[in-house]
Amino acid sequence: MFVKIKGTGSCLPEKVLDNFEISQLVDTNDEWIQSRTGIKSRHIAREETAVSMAAKAAKRALEDAQVAAEEIDLLIVSSVSSEQLLPCTACSVQKEIGAVNAAAFDLNAACSGFIVAYQMAAGQIKAGLSKKALLIGVECLSNIVNWEDRGTCILFGDGAGAAVVSADEDGNIDGRGNIEIPSVLHSDGSRGEVLTCQNPTGKRADGSLKGYVAMDGREIYKFAARQVPVVVKEILEKAGKSVEEVDLFVLHQANARIVDAVARRLHIGIEKFPMNLQEYGNTSSASVPILLNELNRNGLLKKGQKLVLAGFGAGLSWGADILEWDIKG
Ligand code: UT7
Repeated sequence: MFVKIKGTGSCLPEKVLDNFEISQLVDTNDEWIQSRTGIKSRHIAREETAVSMAAKAAKRALEDAQVAAEEIDLLIVSSVSSEQLLPCTACSVQKEIGAVNAAAFDLNAACSGFIVAYQMAAGQIKAGLSKKALLIGVECLSNIVNWEDRGTCILFGDGAGAAVVSADEDGNIDGRGNIEIPSVLHSDGSRGEVLTCQNPTGKRADGSLKGYVAMDGREIYKFAARQVPVVVKEILEKAGKSVEEVDLFVLHQANARIVDAVARRLHIGIEKFPMNLQEYGNTSSASVPILLNELNRNGLLKKGQKLVLAGFGAGLSWGADILEWDIKG
């Protein structure tokens, strides 16, 4: 395929908040959380910020890719929960890591953010506007979670994941030229009310703006279980591949039951759907790159393997990318 991942990195905050600790904050328990979500713990930022986590993940990805920060010409940060609006998180990361030649900007596509960033980078590279891009998903969701709402606060965690992507060395597209932009994206703003968060810095005279995540969990669950298998089939059709030809499905880590439901609907064994949400909870746009990095660092990815990445969440937004793993395992 035209764009390859050359290196990955991640950064998780030191503080681990397990289900027992969370049951001291809200009326819940470990059994309920694990059986409904699969989550056992999550990492929560204390000293860390979105910029500091993103910069660490980025440096690790650059090192893994053996690419110098100066070689990066495009730096995209996907986030919904950074502490800062201006300058954008990507510009602060640029400063931290010395990516002086990069155009840097943030995007907000919630839990689909990394999938969108990959497509943006693939498009820029394909158009000849970029050679090496650094993509980061970073979230400090603890900033915007209502710690009195048991329906949401149990789900989310903080962290960052990053990937360096560049054109295939020989400029080839899948060796056969059959797929140019290996990505499918969708949005449906008409259903946006099922997962919202008002800008915490916004002002309304009646004080009605509240900067907390509010969610209709059941609706999101149904949407994800229905749409993710469809978008996976769409990307496979576009790439001319069958479900069986995919080695791993790296899905947004929201809920183990959602991942199970997607695997069942695709008639694919759950062993092809790696998960780490047990440890990190839902880290929104950071979940896919954090999981990719773990698979990479643990030697679970082999050169030539086909991976499908898929994300879904607020917007509503959803999408999938397909890529061939290029790093020697
Ligand atoms: O990145 C995308 C972001 N969002 C998601 O991925 C969310 C997708 N949705 C989900 O993961 C699930 O819908 C949840 C885990 C959020 C909720 O699971 P559920 O099986 O859909 O539970 P529910 O909301 O239908 O609630 C069932 C019961 C309710 O009690 P009653 O009305 O049956 O008495 C809730 O009040 O569970 C109660 N409940 C809890 N009990 C203990 C809700 N949250 C909790 C809790 N602990 N934390």
